[in-house]
Amino acid sequence: MNKIPLIEVKNLSRGYWDNPTPLFENLSFTVDMNEFFVLTGKSGTGKTTLVNFMIGKLAPPEKTIFFNNQDISTFTSEDIQVLRKWLGIVFQDYQLLEDLSVRDNVTYPLHLYELGESIIEGKLKQVLEKVNIKHLLDTPVKLLSAGEKQKVSLARALIHDPEFIIADEPTGNLDRENTQIVADILIAANKAGTTVFLITHDIHLLNYLKEKHAIKLHVIR
Ligand SMILES: Nc1ncnc2c1ncn2[C@@H]1O[C@H](COP(=O)(O)OP(=O)(O)OP(=O)(O)O)[C@@H](O)[C@H]1O
Ligand SMILES: [Mg+2]
Repeated sequence: MNKIPLIEVKNLSRGYWDNPTPLFENLSFTVDMNEFFVLTGKSGTGKTTLVNFMIGKLAPPEKTIFFNNQDISTFTSEDIQVLRKWLGIVFQDYQLLEDLSVRDNVTYPLHLYELGESIIEGKLKQVLEKVNIKHLLDTPVKLLSAGEKQKVSLARALIHDPEFIIADEPTGNLDRENTQIVADILIAANKAGTTVFLITHDIHLLNYLKEKHAIKLHVIR
């Protein structure tokens, strides 16, 4: 099958202006369409910063990150909105609305689409079953454990069947059994055609993935 680059990172080097340590010295890699890409590297090497560049939360240096051959540093806020609609993102720090229920958090991305109540309910039920948190439907997120929040965040990333999933340490607070459940969900999504960009330094997750599925691994040093 022909490889079609979805994301290209080219010679990315960048520091935070208020932090003297530079991040990524000439980082380069390509994520192809339908690939299961895993990025790993020590804590503090800039993985979450890279996600923030990729989703338009932080401005990347010019001509370093390309989505479908387009330099994302040139994206307008409308372009970024279109991009976000197309993405499912699991944030390392969840980024959930703490006062709202699991239902309201998980269905949040669907408000970008004009869907009827019954379709929303159907998708909600399906995704909560998948991540095994159906019993938490009406619970306010602020009452959940860290691992439960992580699953809510995954459910929210999956509910609109995104073409591309970015998951930043999605198993950081999960036990081994739940880690494998998350791995299986991501593998199933990838088999169904979703491109996966996973960030992790969870060695159990990495070993499980390598055993079960074809992944492309890139290490940031
Ligand atoms: N907004 C910011 N301003 C200044 N420095 C920052 C900012 N965000 C992150 N940093 C610094 O940039 C470096 C990389 O942080 P980042 O969160 O991207 O690392 P990471 O690889 O995701 O780490 P971890 O594996 O622990 O999640 C760290 O030294 C961090 O302190
Ligand atoms: Mg991080």
